[in-house]
Amino acid sequence: MKPSSASSFGRDVPSAFDGRISLPDASAVFVYASIADLNVAVARRIAKSAALSIGARGVFRIALAGGETPRGCYRELRKMPIDWNCVHVYFGDERCLPRGDAGRNDTMAREELLSHVAIPAANEHAIHAERGAQIAAPEYAVRLQGALPLDLVLLGMGGDGHTASLFPGNAAAAQGDLVVPVFNAPKPPAERVSLSVAALNAAREKMFLVAGRAKRGALAQIAQGAALPAAQITGAEWHIDRAALPEGMI
Ligand code: 6PG
Repeated sequence: MKPSSASSFGRDVPSAFDGRISLPDASAVFVYASIADLNVAVARRIAKSAALSIGARGVFRIALAGGETPRGCYRELRKMPIDWNCVHVYFGDERCLPRGDAGRNDTMAREELLSHVAIPAANEHAIHAERGAQIAAPEYAVRLQGALPLDLVLLGMGGDGHTASLFPGNAAAAQGDLVVPVFNAPKPPAERVSLSVAALNAAREKMFLVAGRAKRGALAQIAQGAALPAAQITGAEWHIDRAALPEGMI
């Protein structure tokens, strides 16, 4: 299999691990010895993407990922030389919980990043998921429409191969709208709002952050061609720590 391009990246992050995994439709796969290395490397790549977007278009529109994996990367991102005045933050998905709830993805983003950088409040575009998925999804689609194409979408992946709030076998994963209401999600809370596969794929750049043993099975399935929701995202960079590498793929 084609070696990943982590080695070219290894010079930046001394302990980057040059793994051997190829994922269908990936634009590149980077494997790191640790999540700490992944966090630094991805933060640097986001800063580079921001500089190029702002240089070219005067703005950088990024959709942040939720869950736990991105926390460390967001902490590293605080340190990066980014012109936050020109950054607009969106969210790949949001959980239908009250504003400020600790379980919300925007709460985590605010804790780990947004409250530590000089981003204008008007540049934070939260999903109003507290209003319920049926109302919040179309409302966000109207607000997002004017921001397309996003410059960069950050994505996590669950152990079942879901991404954003698009879960295997859930009707939302197959919907073509820009933003979709999600019901009966297997990962609590059951009700969520998510950008659709089409909306995520429309971004100029996509980066997955995948770490930990719990992701090995889904990565192995995707490497073997399984059409899991995360595998529907094409042309993405996959940033993976060694712990998430499937058995025998080193
Ligand atoms: C969410 C996220 C979800 C997350 C994955 C991975 O709302 O939970 O949008 O897609 O990225 O479930 O979560 P961890 O990073 O916590 O493993």
